[in-house]
Amino acid sequence: MENVKRGFHISFEGIDGSGKTTVSTNLYLRFKEKGYLCFYTIEPTFMRVGSLIRLHASRIRNVPQYYMALLFAADRVEHYERVIRKKLEKGYHVISDRYVHSSIAYQGGLLNDAEWVRTINNRVPPPDLAIYLDISPEKALSRKKVSGIFEDASILTKIRRAYLRLVEEREVEIVDAERPLEDVLKNVIEIVEKKLNIDLT
Ligand code: TMP
Repeated sequence: MENVKRGFHISFEGIDGSGKTTVSTNLYLRFKEKGYLCFYTIEPTFMRVGSLIRLHASRIRNVPQYYMALLFAADRVEHYERVIRKKLEKGYHVISDRYVHSSIAYQGGLLNDAEWVRTINNRVPPPDLAIYLDISPEKALSRKKVSGIFEDASILTKIRRAYLRLVEEREVEIVDAERPLEDVLKNVIEIVEKKLNIDLT
């Protein structure tokens, strides 16, 4: 175990409808094609707290965001400890569809209290690379059916603003996700190749 090189943790972020799931699964397949150990995972998880979040998803609008922030943070601790950390230690690159920046942008943005959200998430390490797929709420909502919890343009605008603050703070790397999938994926692969110093093409 000691000789295994730790993998990289790459998270994907964006408002609902940003195309994050499509782009992240494509990156995962590219890693696999190139022979890298890679593990794909999502938040909220399907573990205990994640399932509780999903159970409440349809009524989540009426649930206070402080409560949601705590559930997402608890789910993340379980996710990191039971899954992500173990995979990284075994040398897998881990791609997560959402991670800590989702809480900072969603709950932090909606509560106007990013600092508190950061505090309750300080039991898990940040990802090695966070890629934020930027798209306007109008464009996101026009793309097929947005199936997330937050489907309201004014709410999505607030969340996008919080993500853009994370870009300014250089915590996440922005990718223009209003372009065709092919271009978005190309841009994402360039960023990952540079960060990990590998060839994925
Ligand atoms: P998904 O649409 O990517 O499946 O994510 C489910 C919803 O949960 C989405 O509307 C974003 C929301 N969410 C948060 O509000 N905070 C979080 O920390 C996470 C992980 C997701």
